[in-house]
Amino acid sequence: MDLSGKRILLIISGGIAAYKSLDLIRRLRERGAEVRPVMTKAAQEFVTPLAVGALSSGHVYTELFSREDEQDVGHIRLARDCDLVLVAPATANLMARMAHGLADDLASTILLATDRPVLIAPAMNPKMWEAAATRRNVETLKADGISFIGPMAGEMAESNEAGLGRMAEPLQIVDAAIRMFDGGAKPLSGRKAIVTSGPTHEPIDPVRYIANRSSGRQGHAIAAALAKLGADVTLVSGPVTIPAPAGVTILHVETASEMLDAVETRLPADIAVMVAAVADWRVATSADQKIKKQPGEAPAPLLLTENPDILKTVGHHAKRPKLVVGFAAETQNIEANGRSKLERKGADMIVANDVSPQTGVMGGTRNRVKIISADGVDAWPDLGKDEVAERLAALIAERLASK
Ligand code: C5P
Repeated sequence: MDLSGKRILLIISGGIAAYKSLDLIRRLRERGAEVRPVMTKAAQEFVTPLAVGALSSGHVYTELFSREDEQDVGHIRLARDCDLVLVAPATANLMARMAHGLADDLASTILLATDRPVLIAPAMNPKMWEAAATRRNVETLKADGISFIGPMAGEMAESNEAGLGRMAEPLQIVDAAIRMFDGGAKPLSGRKAIVTSGPTHEPIDPVRYIANRSSGRQGHAIAAALAKLGADVTLVSGPVTIPAPAGVTILHVETASEMLDAVETRLPADIAVMVAAVADWRVATSADQKIKKQPGEAPAPLLLTENPDILKTVGHHAKRPKLVVGFAAETQNIEANGRSKLERKGADMIVANDVSPQTGVMGGTRNRVKIISADGVDAWPDLGKDEVAERLAALIAERLASK
């Protein structure tokens, strides 16, 4: 695939790598793209608008408050009238402004106003790339759905320091841009998925509740990974503190009953991945008023009743999704318990993991899982939860394709 007919808004920010943006413009145009350049003030210290304009054979946008430019297209239209916003080079400063939603010049305003996919090619000194603040900004931008190409390892132009920080080469950036448009080939395009995630909170009275240590990290990562493969994802999330992943529809719930209702409203679907650590029990009748402690009296016993089993309900539903995946958080007999769950819950696949306290899985960032299905057991190595999610999404796509 080339870039014929694609309109690329190229934002050049101020770094020495800006000189490579001149070549980048040529490479993008060679593949048929139309390039509309925007330069920050600092970028103009490294390359001139004249050179950029000559290579892109068009107007170069530099000012937020330019009467001429605003009459011509205006910053909101600049942000929307394109198929891709590409930032190359993306400096640490511009990334920080993006991560915080600042809009204090034309480039940052476009980045805040755009509803188009954004690809950035960072370039900075390795120490700046490693700095804690940049790490936080990168995480934020990734969670916001921004795509990255690079930075690459190598010698810096301005010093003899080496490390991660070089801007990717123009051809690597062109390839990354082409991959951004390759959406038609995504394996889960046109598939509907429902993912549950996080804990549930079961009220005791208006201020107290029963909960568990689930962070929602694994479920949210799976929702994001399925969306990346093109699925139309609804994430039904219990109360969590982590941000909602980009590109999914999120429904917030508190209790198991609300979670089941939310899941059922999204049926029919092709895929259900039930990751939530649903409370098995709720208080039989939660009090309308705060339960008071009575001096000298024993505390009132909590009468529990069983919650609906969402996975089991979905696994046996009249509108059962083609592929139903459950989790089995166990502290012992992991494989045997996983196998019996497969049968009992009507699932096609169970992702079994050891949540003993020493594993740090519950609430942590890593996971070691076993995939249990009619085909047998596949033990995966210790991986980050994002990696488990990506592998699982790929496996789901494969299983669905062969069904
Ligand atoms: O039976 P157990 O709780 O170990 O099963 C875990 C699996 O069942 C997970 O996929 C979890 O999301 C799901 N589950 C559910 N509703 C419940 C209990 C568990 O969907 N009430």
